[in-house]
Amino acid sequence: MKQVISQDINEYLTHLGQFGQLEAGGVTRFVYDAAWIAAMNFVLQDAKFRGMNVAVDKYGNGFMSYPGINATQIVAAGSHLDTVNKAGIYDGSYGMAAAILAMSDLFRQYGQPQKTMTAVAFSEEEGSRFPVSFSGSKHYSKTKETDPLIKDCNGITFGSARHLALQQLTTKYLLEEQPLPSEFFELHIEQGPILEEKGLQLGVVSSICEQKRFTVTLHGQTNHAGTTPQHLRKDALKAAVRLIYRLEKQAQCLGEPFVFTVGEFVVSPGSSNVIPGLVRFSVDIRHPDKKIVDGFEDFLRTCAAALSAFTVEVYKWMDSLPAKMDKRLVKQFQKIITARGLDYLNLPSGAGHDTQIMNLKVPTAMLFVPSKAGISHAPAEFTSPKDLALGVEILKDQLYEECYH
Ligand code: GLV
Ligand code: MN
Ligand code: MN
Repeated sequence: MKQVISQDINEYLTHLGQFGQLEAGGVTRFVYDAAWIAAMNFVLQDAKFRGMNVAVDKYGNGFMSYPGINATQIVAAGSHLDTVNKAGIYDGSYGMAAAILAMSDLFRQYGQPQKTMTAVAFSEEEGSRFPVSFSGSKHYSKTKETDPLIKDCNGITFGSARHLALQQLTTKYLLEEQPLPSEFFELHIEQGPILEEKGLQLGVVSSICEQKRFTVTLHGQTNHAGTTPQHLRKDALKAAVRLIYRLEKQAQCLGEPFVFTVGEFVVSPGSSNVIPGLVRFSVDIRHPDKKIVDGFEDFLRTCAAALSAFTVEVYKWMDSLPAKMDKRLVKQFQKIITARGLDYLNLPSGAGHDTQIMNLKVPTAMLFVPSKAGISHAPAEFTSPKDLALGVEILKDQLYEECYH
């Protein structure tokens, strides 16, 4: 690989966005796939050129550090390297690249820090390949290990995909489990429309929403589309549509900020002249108040059980608690922004972030920059180079306060 050292965040992200780039536009980089391995290799190699100590842990999380004078005190910042299917180039990548650039700038300007500064490239956050999300930060924070036997849609297990990716990375990089940092920061694009609407460049995150995800499987009876009378059918697709309609009605009844999404939907066997015998779809629900999310889960289970002619499985594979950001670190972000004569908005995050997992163990804070038209998880995702660069500057000031005193 060519040596690429750019202090320009936009250039860095454009380069990183080539790993997993799709011909039709957008990026798909699922954890442990070939594009992900190439991207992780680029990030770690580049960090080496910047003089950082580089290692991976056994989940393939990438760690890039400038050791401090008090080396055991660690301040970490970063985000995830994986993407959703047909993503933009900013989600996750921005926070990871911002941490690397902010830290290497500080090191160049002020030399060795008092505390170790570690930039983290989390292996997986999105839950796009396997029925698990945040597997990277759950491992790093020593919160939860991922079942190696869970499978992707091609039947490949998490354990074997991880093993193959690690085999490649560890020919070049040290394999080393990492101690917990004393605090964690994440810079992220907002992924919503609020900052742009208010004409602000910066958002200080107050909390992160409660979120649950499920896979719902409906078993009916596969049969001939021409010979089976309507009243004798067990059409799994039509039953799934009725169920989703009831859930949508309930979501509307609850009102915003509750959100409900069916983003994956599989019909089997999938022929125009065959009554579908099996349907599988995802359910994603979020709200800042855990009670509301719990209530919707109960409703989902009751509606599923009411489809008595069908066997319905509701498998919950994600249940993340709401997370409150650390008061002191939030205040410090606000102070840094104000000292630059700039304004900000305090806002909760509807999107999930690695920070909510780190927050289970250490104090955390997050900063948002605007997303054009509020679009994210799509190729049209865009944040202006100016806003990207400002976010890095604010993170740099925060890291200076925490690591150089
Ligand atoms: C993560 O990107 C999420 O779905 O919130
Ligand atoms: Mn993200
Ligand atoms: Mn995302």
